[in-house]
Amino acid sequence: MSEKNISTEIQNFVRYVVSAVASASLYSPEHRQVHRLGGEAFAFLQAALAAEEEIVLLLIEDELVCNKTPLDGSLYLRKFIKIFHEKGIEHLKFLPQVELEELRSLIVSLSRQSGNVPGVCSSAHIHLGRLDISNDTVEAGKSVAEEKKANLSFEEISRLEKEVFAEVYECAKENKTFGMAGINEIVSASIHAFEKMAGSLRLLDKLLALDEYTFTHSTNVCILNLAQAKSIGIEGRLLHDVGIAALLHDIGKLSVAEEILLKPGALSSEELEMIHQHTVRGAHYLLDMPGVPKLAVVCSFEHHMKYDGTGYPEVSMGWSQNLCSQITAVSDYFDALRTNRSYRGALEYSTVAAMLVEASGTFLHPLLTRNFLYILGRNTVN
Ligand SMILES: [Fe+2]
Ligand SMILES: [Fe+2]
Repeated sequence: MSEKNISTEIQNFVRYVVSAVASASLYSPEHRQVHRLGGEAFAFLQAALAAEEEIVLLLIEDELVCNKTPLDGSLYLRKFIKIFHEKGIEHLKFLPQVELEELRSLIVSLSRQSGNVPGVCSSAHIHLGRLDISNDTVEAGKSVAEEKKANLSFEEISRLEKEVFAEVYECAKENKTFGMAGINEIVSASIHAFEKMAGSLRLLDKLLALDEYTFTHSTNVCILNLAQAKSIGIEGRLLHDVGIAALLHDIGKLSVAEEILLKPGALSSEELEMIHQHTVRGAHYLLDMPGVPKLAVVCSFEHHMKYDGTGYPEVSMGWSQNLCSQITAVSDYFDALRTNRSYRGALEYSTVAAMLVEASGTFLHPLLTRNFLYILGRNTVN
C-alpha cells in the first residue's frame, strides 16, 4: 500500500474515532452508535496496519504526522488534534496485534471529562507517548500514560468501577450483551496503579483499610488477583485477562434473587443450590459475550472448586482447575472474610490470616496461599 493510501486509511480512522468519541460523550460509552463507529475505525486501522509494521500518530505543534508523513488538515483531524492537546497525548502508536476492545477502551477514555476518571492509558498494543524532539522518533518506553499514572488514585478507580458496573449489571440482569471497554479500562488502570507503585503494593494497604473505601467485591478480587499474578511473574495479556476474570467471576450472582443472597439466616437446600448455580450461569452468560476472554468464562465456572476436589459445581474425575481460578479462589476467600456479610461483620486480619493457613492445602492451593500471605505480610502492620 502506498503512503497516499495509508494516509487515506488513517484519515478515515481519525474521522470514525472522533465521531465515536463525540457519541460516547453525548450518549454513553456503551451506546450502539459508539460500538458501530469504533468498529468502523478499527477496520480502517487494520487496513493501514496491513501495510505497515506499526502506525504512529505524532503531534508536532498543531500538525499530526502519520509514520513521518504529515496528514492533510480536515475538520475531523483538527478535532483529533484538539483531543491530543486536551489529553496531553503527544503520540499514539498502534501495533499490528491491536484488538477492537483496546481501541474501544481508548475511545471511551478519550471521551471522558478530564478530572473525572483516570487519565488515558496505554494498553498492550496501543501505546501513548511523548515526542522525543532530539531525533524525531518516538520513545515507546516513555509514555504519557506512565506519567499520568502518578495521578491515578484508588478513589478514581473506585468511581470508574461504579460507573462501569452500573451498566454491566444492568445488561447482565436482562441477559443482554455488555461492552468490555469499561471493564478493560478498570483492569488497565489497576495494573498501571500497581506499576506506578513499583511493587510496594500500596493498593493493598488501601484495600485493607476497608472503612475508608467502598470497593465492591469484584474490584477487591481484581486487585488481589493482580497482586498475586504479578508476584508469580504473570504479565501482559495474561495479567490483563486474570484481572478481567476477577471482575466478572461473580456475574452469575445477578441471576440469583437478592433476598437469597442477602438472607441473614440459614439457607434451605434449594436456596443453597440456587446460589451454587451462579458459577454455571455466569460461565454460560459470558461464553458468547464479545471481547470476554475465555479465561473469564473458565474462572466463573471454577472459582468455587476447591483444591481438595470438593466445592462446586460438580465436575468429572480428573478435572484440573485452571491457575487463574485457583488464584481467584484465594482472593475470593480472603475478601469474603474481610468484608461485612449479612450474617457477620468483617473479621480482623489476624483471624483471616489464621483461616487462610487452615484452608491451605484443603480448600486452597498451598503454594498460592503461602504466597498470598507473604504478599499480605508485606503490606500489613498488624
Ligand atoms: Fe462466587
Ligand atoms: Fe466472589
